[in-house]
Amino acid sequence: MNTYILAIESSCDETSASIIKDGKEEIATVVLSQMDTHANYGGVVPEIASRMHIENITLVIEETLNKAGMTMNDITAIAITYGPGLIGSLLIGLMAAKTLAFTYNKPLIPVHHIAGHIYANNLVQRLEFPLIALVISGGHTDLIYMKEDYSFEKLGGTLDDAVGEAYDKVARVINVPYPGGPLVDKLAHQGEDTYNLPLPLDDDSYNFSFSGLKSAVINLVHNETQRGNEIIPENMATSFQNRVVEILTKKTMKALKEHNVKNLIVAGGVAANKGLRERLTNECEKNNINLIIPEIKYCTDNAAMIGAAGYYAYKLGRRADLNLNAKASDKLH
Ligand code: KG4
Ligand code: ZN
Repeated sequence: MNTYILAIESSCDETSASIIKDGKEEIATVVLSQMDTHANYGGVVPEIASRMHIENITLVIEETLNKAGMTMNDITAIAITYGPGLIGSLLIGLMAAKTLAFTYNKPLIPVHHIAGHIYANNLVQRLEFPLIALVISGGHTDLIYMKEDYSFEKLGGTLDDAVGEAYDKVARVINVPYPGGPLVDKLAHQGEDTYNLPLPLDDDSYNFSFSGLKSAVINLVHNETQRGNEIIPENMATSFQNRVVEILTKKTMKALKEHNVKNLIVAGGVAANKGLRERLTNECEKNNINLIIPEIKYCTDNAAMIGAAGYYAYKLGRRADLNLNAKASDKLH
């Protein structure tokens, strides 16, 4: 019998629902982004995000069922992102999921947001183990070793800013509007690597550090401005992106080699980065590594990825009851 997971994701500024068949087939997904609203403020305003989730969550779930031509009777279980994320935003999706689980007597499956980002790749191709996952988003920069489904061994992570956060901050300094990441990526393809920026935390560990690189950009911009010189945003974007791509690629390839792993998956919003996709594709070809990077629509927050992760959590017997609470931060497990 097939398993249909109704998944709900509301951890940041996307209200999303999805129905996923057997962990790999997307039946219907609706993503309602609040990006245009938050752009007016230069970043996500948590209070506004929660209110918009309240307005939209029921509509998004109904629309998903309609698109799929299904009713709640066809649904096997409900998967919900319980964390990490903005607590007010998480709570809205969680309340909706609990209400549906209670009303229709369906199992409730708790899903960690990062497990969702990782399992987005399962919608492209069934994950092959062992694998290394490079998880890069607005809140995370992690290298994770997985020997089987739902086994997450963290090899290293950022000691300060997440890579997406560094992109967004650098964007602000070079006057690129929110959302900074995709626009800095675009500019990086139009400029040249002319600025002398450091390769951050170039050591033997699997850890990352992006706050020093971000500060180097800020200092350069200030110094040039004080001297009455204009910086060239395209060149700054290229220089910054080259360092980020270099260090992410270097440590990821080292993790693959040292763990003798032939499968790499990339996950999270920054996986949409064109420069990184090109570089990793090249390196993986050279080293016979099987690389999966999801389509851009599966890189940024969506409920389809929660449905894919939810299916494997369901198969492993993971269940939550109505006491499940939202968590702003939680270890991936
Ligand atoms: O995974 P995501 O949608 O939300 C979080 O869970 O954080 O990731 C959002 C982050 C933002 O920091 C955004 O600027 C960054 O991903 N991002 C990018 C690109 N597209 C999105 N960063 C660099 N290059 C991109 N093309
Ligand atoms: Zn995310």
